[in-house]
Amino acid sequence: MKLVKTVNDLQDYLHRLPGGKTVGLVPTMGALHRGHISLVKRALKENPVVVVSIFVNPTQFNDPKDLERYPRNLEADLQLLEEAGVTLVFAPAVEEIYPEPDTRKFNFGALETVMEGKHRPGHFNGVAQVVSKLFDLVKPDKAYFGQKDFQQLAIIKNMVQQLGLPVEIVPCPIVREKSGLAMSSRNELLSAEERKNAAVISETLFKAKELAGQKSVQELAEWMRETINKNPFLHVEYIEIVDETSLQPVNNRNEENTKVACVAAFCGKVRLIDNMVLN
Ligand code: PAF
Repeated sequence: MKLVKTVNDLQDYLHRLPGGKTVGLVPTMGALHRGHISLVKRALKENPVVVVSIFVNPTQFNDPKDLERYPRNLEADLQLLEEAGVTLVFAPAVEEIYPEPDTRKFNFGALETVMEGKHRPGHFNGVAQVVSKLFDLVKPDKAYFGQKDFQQLAIIKNMVQQLGLPVEIVPCPIVREKSGLAMSSRNELLSAEERKNAAVISETLFKAKELAGQKSVQELAEWMRETINKNPFLHVEYIEIVDETSLQPVNNRNEENTKVACVAAFCGKVRLIDNMVLN
Protein backbone atom coordinates (compact mmCIF):
# COMPACT_ATOMS: atom_id res chain seq x y z
CA MET A 1 0.00 0.00 0.00
CA LYS A 2 1.33 3.40 -0.95
CA LEU A 3 0.65 6.58 1.06
CA VAL A 4 0.79 9.91 -0.74
CA LYS A 5 0.19 13.32 0.80
CA THR A 6 0.43 15.68 -2.13
CA VAL A 7 -1.57 16.17 -5.31
CA ASN A 8 1.64 15.86 -7.34
CA ASP A 9 2.50 12.47 -5.84
CA LEU A 10 -1.08 11.28 -6.25
CA GLN A 11 -1.18 12.17 -9.90
CA ASP A 12 2.31 10.86 -10.51
CA TYR A 13 1.25 7.49 -9.07
CA LEU A 14 -2.03 7.38 -11.00
CA HIS A 15 -0.31 8.27 -14.29
CA ARG A 16 2.12 5.39 -13.89
CA LEU A 17 -0.66 2.81 -13.54
CA PRO A 18 -0.94 0.44 -16.51
CA GLY A 19 -3.89 1.46 -18.72
CA GLY A 20 -7.25 -0.28 -18.70
CA LYS A 21 -7.54 -0.75 -14.93
CA THR A 22 -10.64 0.64 -13.32
CA VAL A 23 -10.14 2.84 -10.28
CA GLY A 24 -12.46 2.77 -7.27
CA LEU A 25 -12.41 5.71 -4.86
CA VAL A 26 -13.53 5.60 -1.23
CA PRO A 27 -13.57 9.17 0.11
CA THR A 28 -13.34 9.32 3.92
CA MET A 29 -12.55 11.70 6.72
CA GLY A 30 -10.55 9.02 8.54
CA ALA A 31 -11.21 7.60 12.02
CA LEU A 32 -12.07 4.49 10.08
CA HIS A 33 -14.40 1.78 11.33
CA ARG A 34 -16.04 -1.37 9.95
CA GLY A 35 -18.49 0.73 7.96
CA HIS A 36 -15.63 2.29 5.97
CA ILE A 37 -13.96 -1.08 5.58
CA SER A 38 -17.15 -2.49 4.06
CA LEU A 39 -16.95 0.26 1.40
CA VAL A 40 -13.29 -0.57 0.81
CA LYS A 41 -14.04 -4.28 0.46
CA ARG A 42 -16.78 -3.60 -2.05
CA ALA A 43 -14.45 -1.30 -3.99
CA LEU A 44 -11.71 -3.96 -3.96
CA LYS A 45 -14.13 -6.53 -5.30
CA GLU A 46 -15.06 -4.30 -8.21
CA ASN A 47 -11.78 -2.57 -9.11
CA PRO A 48 -8.13 -3.63 -9.44
CA VAL A 49 -7.04 -0.23 -8.10
CA VAL A 50 -8.61 1.25 -4.96
CA VAL A 51 -7.78 4.71 -3.70
CA VAL A 52 -8.91 5.76 -0.21
CA SER A 53 -8.75 9.45 0.64
CA ILE A 54 -8.44 10.57 4.24
CA PHE A 55 -9.20 14.25 4.59
CA VAL A 56 -11.14 16.06 7.30
CA ASN A 57 -12.70 18.64 5.04
CA PRO A 58 -13.02 21.99 6.82
CA THR A 59 -15.51 23.47 4.34
CA GLN A 60 -18.25 21.00 5.30
CA PHE A 61 -18.17 21.84 9.03
CA ASN A 62 -20.59 24.61 9.90
CA ASP A 63 -19.42 24.50 13.53
CA PRO A 64 -15.68 25.12 14.16
CA LYS A 65 -15.86 23.21 17.47
CA ASP A 66 -17.20 20.16 15.63
CA LEU A 67 -14.24 20.36 13.22
CA GLU A 68 -11.80 20.62 16.12
CA ARG A 69 -13.36 17.67 17.95
CA TYR A 70 -13.62 15.43 14.89
CA PRO A 71 -11.59 12.25 15.64
CA ARG A 72 -8.31 11.81 13.78
CA ASN A 73 -6.20 8.68 13.87
CA LEU A 74 -4.01 8.31 10.77
CA GLU A 75 -1.75 5.54 12.09
CA ALA A 76 -4.65 3.24 13.01
CA ASP A 77 -6.42 4.11 9.72
CA LEU A 78 -3.36 3.15 7.67
CA GLN A 79 -3.08 -0.16 9.46
CA LEU A 80 -6.71 -1.04 8.74
CA LEU A 81 -6.34 -0.07 5.08
CA GLU A 82 -3.11 -2.02 4.69
CA GLU A 83 -4.83 -5.11 6.14
CA ALA A 84 -7.78 -4.63 3.78
CA GLY A 85 -5.45 -4.60 0.75
CA VAL A 86 -5.91 -1.01 -0.47
CA THR A 87 -3.65 0.14 -3.31
CA LEU A 88 -3.20 3.82 -2.51
CA VAL A 89 -4.07 6.18 0.36
CA PHE A 90 -4.27 9.90 -0.30
CA ALA A 91 -4.03 11.88 2.95
CA PRO A 92 -3.48 15.50 1.97
CA ALA A 93 -3.10 18.63 4.12
CA VAL A 94 -5.76 21.34 3.76
CA GLU A 95 -3.50 23.47 1.52
CA GLU A 96 -3.20 20.65 -1.01
CA ILE A 97 -6.95 20.50 -1.54
CA TYR A 98 -7.59 24.21 -1.09
CA PRO A 99 -4.48 26.11 -2.27
CA GLU A 100 -6.98 28.96 -2.57
CA PRO A 101 -10.38 29.30 -0.90
CA ASP A 102 -13.05 27.39 -2.82
CA THR A 103 -15.75 29.92 -3.62
CA ARG A 104 -17.92 27.61 -5.72
CA LYS A 105 -21.60 27.62 -4.80
CA PHE A 106 -23.62 24.57 -5.74
CA ASN A 107 -27.39 24.54 -6.03
CA PHE A 108 -29.14 21.34 -5.04
CA GLY A 109 -32.62 22.84 -4.90
CA ALA A 110 -35.07 21.10 -2.59
CA LEU A 111 -32.58 18.29 -1.86
CA GLU A 112 -30.60 20.61 0.40
CA THR A 113 -33.37 22.54 2.13
CA VAL A 114 -34.41 19.64 4.36
CA MET A 115 -32.83 17.64 7.20
CA GLU A 116 -29.03 17.97 7.28
CA GLY A 117 -29.12 20.80 4.75
CA LYS A 118 -31.57 22.75 6.90
CA HIS A 119 -29.78 22.12 10.20
CA ARG A 120 -26.20 22.41 8.94
CA PRO A 121 -26.16 25.39 6.58
CA GLY A 122 -23.34 25.17 4.02
CA HIS A 123 -22.57 21.55 4.89
CA PHE A 124 -23.50 20.06 1.54
CA ASN A 125 -21.83 22.84 -0.39
CA GLY A 126 -18.61 21.86 1.41
CA VAL A 127 -19.21 18.17 0.71
CA ALA A 128 -19.75 18.94 -2.98
CA GLN A 129 -16.60 21.09 -3.09
CA VAL A 130 -14.36 18.38 -1.69
CA VAL A 131 -15.94 15.41 -3.47
CA SER A 132 -15.83 17.19 -6.84
CA LYS A 133 -12.15 18.03 -6.24
CA LEU A 134 -11.38 14.42 -5.30
CA PHE A 135 -13.20 13.17 -8.41
CA ASP A 136 -11.23 15.61 -10.51
CA LEU A 137 -7.89 14.52 -8.99
CA VAL A 138 -8.45 10.75 -8.91
CA LYS A 139 -10.79 10.37 -11.92
CA PRO A 140 -12.36 7.23 -10.44
CA ASP A 141 -14.61 4.93 -12.46
CA LYS A 142 -16.64 4.22 -9.33
CA ALA A 143 -16.95 5.96 -5.96
CA TYR A 144 -18.36 4.38 -2.81
CA PHE A 145 -20.51 6.07 -0.17
CA GLY A 146 -22.38 4.77 2.87
CA GLN A 147 -26.16 4.91 3.08
CA LYS A 148 -25.95 6.19 6.66
CA ASP A 149 -25.36 9.57 5.02
CA PHE A 150 -28.53 9.12 3.04
CA GLN A 151 -28.98 12.77 2.07
CA GLN A 152 -25.29 13.13 1.19
CA LEU A 153 -25.69 10.29 -1.30
CA ALA A 154 -28.60 12.04 -3.01
CA ILE A 155 -26.60 15.29 -3.15
CA ILE A 156 -23.53 13.58 -4.61
CA LYS A 157 -25.58 11.76 -7.25
CA ASN A 158 -27.17 15.07 -8.16
CA MET A 159 -23.77 16.80 -8.34
CA VAL A 160 -22.42 14.09 -10.65
CA GLN A 161 -25.43 14.63 -12.90
CA GLN A 162 -25.13 18.43 -12.86
CA LEU A 163 -21.40 18.32 -13.68
CA GLY A 164 -21.74 15.43 -16.15
CA LEU A 165 -18.98 13.45 -14.44
CA PRO A 166 -18.16 9.97 -15.74
CA VAL A 167 -18.23 8.30 -12.32
CA GLU A 168 -20.64 5.69 -11.01
CA ILE A 169 -21.82 6.33 -7.46
CA VAL A 170 -22.14 3.09 -5.51
CA PRO A 171 -24.33 3.25 -2.37
CA CYS A 172 -23.33 0.78 0.37
CA PRO A 173 -25.53 -0.45 3.23
CA ILE A 174 -25.26 0.90 6.78
CA VAL A 175 -23.05 -1.23 9.02
CA ARG A 176 -24.23 -1.45 12.62
CA GLU A 177 -22.57 -2.21 15.93
CA LYS A 178 -23.87 -5.26 17.79
CA SER A 179 -26.27 -2.99 19.68
CA GLY A 180 -27.72 -1.74 16.39
CA LEU A 181 -26.01 1.67 16.62
CA ALA A 182 -25.03 2.79 13.11
CA MET A 183 -21.25 2.83 12.75
CA SER A 184 -19.85 6.34 12.69
CA SER A 185 -16.49 7.93 13.38
CA ARG A 186 -18.35 10.13 15.85
CA ASN A 187 -19.18 7.08 18.00
CA GLU A 188 -15.58 7.30 19.22
CA LEU A 189 -16.49 10.54 20.96
CA LEU A 190 -19.19 8.84 23.08
CA SER A 191 -18.53 7.64 26.62
CA ALA A 192 -19.28 3.94 27.26
CA GLU A 193 -22.59 4.88 28.87
CA GLU A 194 -23.56 7.25 26.06
CA ARG A 195 -22.70 4.62 23.48
CA LYS A 196 -25.02 2.13 25.16
CA ASN A 197 -27.87 4.63 25.25
CA ALA A 198 -27.26 5.82 21.68
CA ALA A 199 -28.50 2.39 20.55
CA VAL A 200 -32.03 3.62 21.37
CA ILE A 201 -31.91 5.58 18.08
CA SER A 202 -31.61 2.45 15.92
CA GLU A 203 -33.94 0.44 18.19
CA THR A 204 -36.55 3.12 17.58
CA LEU A 205 -36.00 3.01 13.83
CA PHE A 206 -36.35 -0.78 13.73
CA LYS A 207 -39.53 -0.57 15.79
CA ALA A 208 -40.83 2.24 13.55
CA LYS A 209 -40.47 -0.08 10.56
CA GLU A 210 -42.73 -2.59 12.35
CA LEU A 211 -45.26 0.12 13.24
CA ALA A 212 -45.26 1.82 9.83
CA GLY A 213 -48.39 0.00 8.64
CA GLN A 214 -50.37 0.88 11.77
CA LYS A 215 -49.71 4.57 12.40
CA SER A 216 -50.09 7.62 10.22
CA VAL A 217 -46.82 9.19 9.11
CA GLN A 218 -47.36 12.04 11.57
CA GLU A 219 -48.14 9.67 14.46
CA LEU A 220 -45.12 7.55 13.64
CA ALA A 221 -42.77 10.55 13.57
CA GLU A 222 -44.20 11.81 16.86
CA TRP A 223 -43.87 8.37 18.44
CA MET A 224 -40.22 8.20 17.35
CA ARG A 225 -39.48 11.66 18.73
CA GLU A 226 -41.05 10.83 22.10
CA THR A 227 -39.38 7.42 22.33
CA ILE A 228 -35.92 8.82 21.66
CA ASN A 229 -36.37 11.93 23.81
CA LYS A 230 -37.53 9.77 26.73
CA ASN A 231 -33.96 8.53 27.02
CA PRO A 232 -32.09 11.02 29.27
CA PHE A 233 -28.92 10.83 27.12
CA LEU A 234 -30.65 11.68 23.86
CA HIS A 235 -32.20 14.75 22.32
CA VAL A 236 -33.81 14.69 18.88
CA GLU A 237 -32.86 17.45 16.45
CA TYR A 238 -35.16 16.25 13.70
CA ILE A 239 -37.20 13.25 12.65
CA GLU A 240 -38.37 13.21 9.05
CA ILE A 241 -40.15 10.57 7.04
CA VAL A 242 -39.23 11.33 3.45
CA ASP A 243 -39.51 10.05 -0.08
CA GLU A 244 -36.35 8.12 -0.98
CA THR A 245 -35.67 10.08 -4.17
CA SER A 246 -37.01 13.60 -3.65
CA LEU A 247 -36.18 13.67 0.11
CA GLN A 248 -39.40 15.61 0.59
CA PRO A 249 -41.64 14.79 3.57
CA VAL A 250 -44.22 12.07 3.01
CA ASN A 251 -47.68 13.03 4.23
CA ASN A 252 -49.64 9.85 3.69
CA ARG A 253 -48.53 6.32 4.50
CA ASN A 254 -50.52 5.02 1.53
CA GLU A 255 -48.32 6.88 -0.98
CA GLU A 256 -46.65 4.23 -3.12
CA ASN A 257 -43.12 5.54 -2.85
CA THR A 258 -40.23 4.21 -0.79
CA LYS A 259 -40.33 5.97 2.56
CA VAL A 260 -37.26 6.55 4.68
CA ALA A 261 -37.30 7.57 8.32
CA CYS A 262 -34.36 9.86 9.09
CA VAL A 263 -33.16 10.90 12.52
CA ALA A 264 -30.59 13.35 13.83
CA ALA A 265 -30.15 13.31 17.59
CA PHE A 266 -27.62 14.52 20.10
CA CYS A 267 -26.18 12.03 22.53
CA GLY A 268 -24.57 14.40 25.00
CA LYS A 269 -22.52 16.73 22.76
CA VAL A 270 -22.23 14.23 19.91
CA ARG A 271 -24.58 14.58 16.96
CA LEU A 272 -25.60 11.25 15.43
CA ILE A 273 -27.65 10.45 12.34
CA ASP A 274 -29.33 7.27 11.21
CA ASN A 275 -32.09 6.22 8.82
CA MET A 276 -34.20 3.27 7.81
CA VAL A 277 -36.36 2.34 4.84
CA LEU A 278 -39.86 1.79 6.23
CA ASN A 279 -41.41 -0.24 3.40
O1 PAF B 1 -19.02 11.06 4.43
C1 PAF B 1 -17.91 11.57 4.67
O2 PAF B 1 -17.06 11.04 5.40
C2 PAF B 1 -17.57 12.91 4.06
O3 PAF B 1 -18.68 13.72 3.99
C3 PAF B 1 -16.89 12.79 2.68
C4 PAF B 1 -17.81 12.16 1.65
C5 PAF B 1 -15.62 11.97 2.80
C6 PAF B 1 -16.50 14.18 2.16
O4 PAF B 1 -15.63 14.83 3.03
